[in-house]
Amino acid sequence: MLVCSVVGARPNFMKMAPVIKEMHSRGIDHILVHTGQHYDTNMSQVFFDDLDIPKPDIFLNIEAATHTQQTARIMMAFEEVCMENQFDLIVMGGDVNSTLAVALVAAKMHIPLAHIESGLRSFDRDMPEEINRVVTDHLSTLLFTTEESANVNLKREGIDADKCHFVGNCMVDSLLKNVDLAVSRSPWDVFDLAPGSYSLLTIHRPSNVDDPEKLKHLVDIVNEVSNSIRVLFPVHPRTRKHLVEWKIDTSQSVIVCDPLPYLSFLGLMSKAGFVLTDSGGIQEETTVLGVPCLTLRENTERPITVTEGTNRIVGADRRLILNAVNEIVNGNWHSGNCPDLWDGNAGVRIGDVIESWGSSR
Ligand code: UD1
Repeated sequence: MLVCSVVGARPNFMKMAPVIKEMHSRGIDHILVHTGQHYDTNMSQVFFDDLDIPKPDIFLNIEAATHTQQTARIMMAFEEVCMENQFDLIVMGGDVNSTLAVALVAAKMHIPLAHIESGLRSFDRDMPEEINRVVTDHLSTLLFTTEESANVNLKREGIDADKCHFVGNCMVDSLLKNVDLAVSRSPWDVFDLAPGSYSLLTIHRPSNVDDPEKLKHLVDIVNEVSNSIRVLFPVHPRTRKHLVEWKIDTSQSVIVCDPLPYLSFLGLMSKAGFVLTDSGGIQEETTVLGVPCLTLRENTERPITVTEGTNRIVGADRRLILNAVNEIVNGNWHSGNCPDLWDGNAGVRIGDVIESWGSSR
């Protein structure tokens, strides 16, 4: 069996690292492809270093463009890779444009596709990620899910239950493997902060950062938050571009920096007083770490982080956000529970399914 794993954008790296390791440790022939969707060193290479991911065998070097162009270019380049190799299975994670492109090529070339993190739904088709998730799931042969809501969503959409495997969360495998090392490096020292004395902010969703009014509104709220606690803000390239273009300023108590390497961010997140974010993965990571999370969106495709974890959906509502910050600062936040199968062994379970699928063909 020859398996091709594909990565492309930052959230793919921590999810695919445990799966790539499984392929190698089981002696499964394996090729790693990087689409190049994220290309800055601090959005890509530092993650390969921190997560000990082998150098990609093939780098497609697809430059940023509109969503349609990016997806189409990845499709064209990845189709060539598939023509030159006889893949028995393609493994891809998440919901980024690279995921969609790879899924479409796999389907058109009749190559079975395994999708890591299937079934998550925000029910918001304005999000590019939601389109990517739905299409990818319906083109997949093996669907690996992280939480019960995903199992329910796939069933409701009529996807054959035999294809679906509830395996837990690969990103948690990476987190549990690395968190002690990450904390031991005291990454807060670089910013002259003490553990627990700061909050952490990430925003990059198009719905938050592609509209000047909305971005300004959010930054104004963050500036208010920073009156009660320092805010550390590693800025995503999409967000930085717009902050500069629209001359939106953060206050002096907001520490602005470039996107951080995996280990630095993980260490900082695990000792943050709380996290403000519109990321999907960070909602899950804070739940495992027991750190309060305020999600700056109107919905989440990861509802278990709210029902069992430490997450609350606050949108861009100033009152909701400031009230929640008050609750947290006054020690009134729930600690939450770690969801079922978020135990560090999702990669092993995925490896088991792939191996038995391969031997039954
Ligand atoms: C993408 C994913 C999103 C994920 C996020 C994590 C899609 C639809 N969205 O959004 O789900 O949460 O990645 O970061 O796939 N850029 C750089 N350097 C880089 C990468 C990007 O400067 O290394 C710039 C691009 O040139 C572009 C902008 O950032 O102008 C956005 O990048 P893009 O890949 O289009 O999407 P993200 O917003 O990063």
